[in-house]
Amino acid sequence: MSVAVDLHKLPAKCRQRFPIFDRRVYINSCSQGALSDRVRAAYADYLRDWDDRGAPWEYWIERTEAARTAFARLVNANPDEIAVTTSLSAGVAALASGLRYAGPRHKVVLTDWEFPTIGQIWHAQEARGARVVHVREDADGQIQPRAFRPLIDEETKLVSVTHVCYRNGARLDVDSVVRLAHEHEVPVLLDAYQAIGSIPIDVKALGVDFLACGTLKYLLGSAGLGFFYCRRELWEQAWPTATGWFADENVFAMDIHDYSPARNARRFQSGTPPIPAIYAGIAGIELMEEIGIAETQKHVRKLNELLIEGVEELGGTIATPRDPNRRGALICIESTDAERLVGELDREGIVTSSRDGNLRVSAHAYNTPEDVKAVLWELARKRHLLA
Ligand SMILES: Cc1ncc(COP(=O)(O)O)c(C=O)c1O
Repeated sequence: MSVAVDLHKLPAKCRQRFPIFDRRVYINSCSQGALSDRVRAAYADYLRDWDDRGAPWEYWIERTEAARTAFARLVNANPDEIAVTTSLSAGVAALASGLRYAGPRHKVVLTDWEFPTIGQIWHAQEARGARVVHVREDADGQIQPRAFRPLIDEETKLVSVTHVCYRNGARLDVDSVVRLAHEHEVPVLLDAYQAIGSIPIDVKALGVDFLACGTLKYLLGSAGLGFFYCRRELWEQAWPTATGWFADENVFAMDIHDYSPARNARRFQSGTPPIPAIYAGIAGIELMEEIGIAETQKHVRKLNELLIEGVEELGGTIATPRDPNRRGALICIESTDAERLVGELDREGIVTSSRDGNLRVSAHAYNTPEDVKAVLWELARKRHLLA
């Protein structure tokens, strides 16, 4: 049973660090990563430093730089290409505010897979002259790169896409979309929130121009910390008007008579950095580096094969693509009443979530085949809620 042995290797390395597994089957990392002892200790360190040292802002700024560097290392960027933000939305809104939509290039192309925040931020730019168009899902709920072709042209300002869809777990062929956009000299923004920490991401290899995400899902951090990558060559093409003093070229000049954004990606920041979440975020990123993101991807793929097979044996329907290269860590299962199903699983000690009529099951490095079996066992008892 080499597969079974293999599937215990990663949890054996890390599961004991996540106390929730003493009480519950936690298989919901698409919403929030489980709390580790390491992240809990990081929060304790923050409180200790605050209590012992009062207002150690020099150290806290140094921690902010450590977070910037840790994230840059994770995605193969330079630290000066990274803004430390308070959410994915904050970085994207800074970019959107920094672009001008008056010239011939005024069209923003997004997809029907976007998280609401992306649609809302770009549609808000319609008040500033942007025209926003959506690449539609096909009949199977898929988005093929060729569907972008008619929409990307000399009027296009930006292509804004999501790596893995939060509703159905489908993964976009980012390479092909980037190639197509770049043929027309159009930059690409990638929302990598549902991918980061579960799939190795190299911004240079992917060729994306901007990338936004946060730490609370597969990066095992908590709410309050996001990152925004901007390729060095594009720094000065955005002049954010949603801004703040930590975006200024000289943060501590305290100049109220001027706005000179930093000449690097820090121009996409705004106010005081989220110090508690930075302690947690660094701990989460370092933990994921120790566990291994490539190993996690392989592990989760195998768990997901077991899950998909099991659901199909029960007569259920998987909304996520079958091709492992076209999906992320998240598996979506169609349900007649997804919220009720989540509630019933919760009563049995199994934590999942729902979106768009689907049950969302999202395994991580800490999940075992037994967790998947526990989900399948309960789904068998609640077969009437499978669509
Ligand atoms: C794909 C995706 N993008 C964005 C977000 C939200 O980002 P934030 O709240 O940090 O702005 C989420 C959160 O669930 C998400 O899944």
